[in-house]
Amino acid sequence: MSEQMQTPEKKPIVLSGIQPSGLITIGNYLGAVKNWSEIQEKYNCLFMIANLHATTVRQDPAALRRNTLEGYAMLLACGIDPERSIVFIQSQNPHHAELMWALNCFTQFGELSRMTQFKDKSAKYSDNINAGLFTYPVLMAADILLYQANLVPVGADQNQHVELARDIVKRVNGIMGNVFTEPECLFPKAGAKIMSLNDPTKKMSKSDPNPKGYVAVLDPRDTIIKKFKSAVTDSGSGIYRADDKAGISNLMTIYSAFTGKTDEQIVAEFEGKGYGDFKVAVGEVVADAVAPVQSRFNELMADKAYLEKCYTEGAEKAMRISRRTRDKVYKKMGFTL
Ligand code: TRP
Repeated sequence: MSEQMQTPEKKPIVLSGIQPSGLITIGNYLGAVKNWSEIQEKYNCLFMIANLHATTVRQDPAALRRNTLEGYAMLLACGIDPERSIVFIQSQNPHHAELMWALNCFTQFGELSRMTQFKDKSAKYSDNINAGLFTYPVLMAADILLYQANLVPVGADQNQHVELARDIVKRVNGIMGNVFTEPECLFPKAGAKIMSLNDPTKKMSKSDPNPKGYVAVLDPRDTIIKKFKSAVTDSGSGIYRADDKAGISNLMTIYSAFTGKTDEQIVAEFEGKGYGDFKVAVGEVVADAVAPVQSRFNELMADKAYLEKCYTEGAEKAMRISRRTRDKVYKKMGFTL
C-alpha cells in the first residue's frame, strides 16, 4: 500500500522508552529524543518514561520521582507533542507488569543469561544482581508487545533485547495463535554517535565521572562553550575528518548534526581557521540549539498541573490500547479476569 493511501490508524505503530536518569546529554538528544519528535507525523507513536526499568539498580525514591517528572518534561520540551503521540509514565499503566508475568513464563533462563547488558550490569553492580536486572528484557518485551508495536527506535545496545522480544513473539504466537505483532528495530540515522569530549575514543556518557566529557541538554550556555573549548583534540591543525583526528572528527559530527551541514561545507567554512575557532563555533551552535529546549523545559517544570494532566491522559490512552492485549493473553492463559 502506498503511503498516501494509509489512513491514520493504519500507520505503523512505534514504541520507545527512555530511563529517567536525571540528565540527558546531547548524545542522547541526537541519538534518541530528537529523532522521536521527528517521526511523530509518519507513525502512530507511544513514548514512555521507563521508570520500572530504572529500579533494577538501586534508586533513591525521591530522586527517582523527580527524575521521572523531569524526564517526562524533557520529552515534551524536545518537541514530542502529547496531542499527537501517546506520552506516558510506565508505572502508571499496570498492564506492563501484568503482561511481564505472563511473558516471564515463556522466556528461558538460558536466553536471559546470554543478554550482554545483563552480563555487563551484573559485573558493574555485583553486590545487587537482583531478579529484576535479569528479567529486565522481559519487561521491555511487554512494553513493546502490549501495543502491538511494529517499530522500536533504539540504539544498537538495545538490539539484542528487541531480538529477544521477537523470539518471545514467535514462541507465544506458536502456542496461543496470533496474539502479538513481531517488532523490528528502527535505528536513527547513522553518524549520530557522539563521543566524549575528553576522550573521543569513548562514547559520550552521562555517567562519565568527569563532567567535561559530556554536554547536558540543560547545561548553561557558558558551561557548554567552556566544555567545547576544553575538548581534547590532537596536536595537528586543520579542520577535516581523519582517523588520527578523533577529537576534531567528533566535533565535526556534532556541528553537522546541529546545523545540517555536510563535512565538505564544514571544511570550506573553517578553511585556514584553527582548532580554537572551530571549538567556539561548535559550542555556540550547540548552545543556540538547546536554548529553546531549556526554556520550554523550565516553563513546563513551572506548570506541574499541566504536566500532570498530560501524563494522566497519556496513561489513560495507553491503557485503552494495552488492555486489549493484556486481556487476550490472560484469557488464553486461563487466568480468571
Ligand atoms: N531499555 C531501554 C534503555 O535502557 C529503555 C526501554 C524500556 C525501552 N522499555 C523500552 C526502549 C521499550 C524501547 C522499547 O534504553
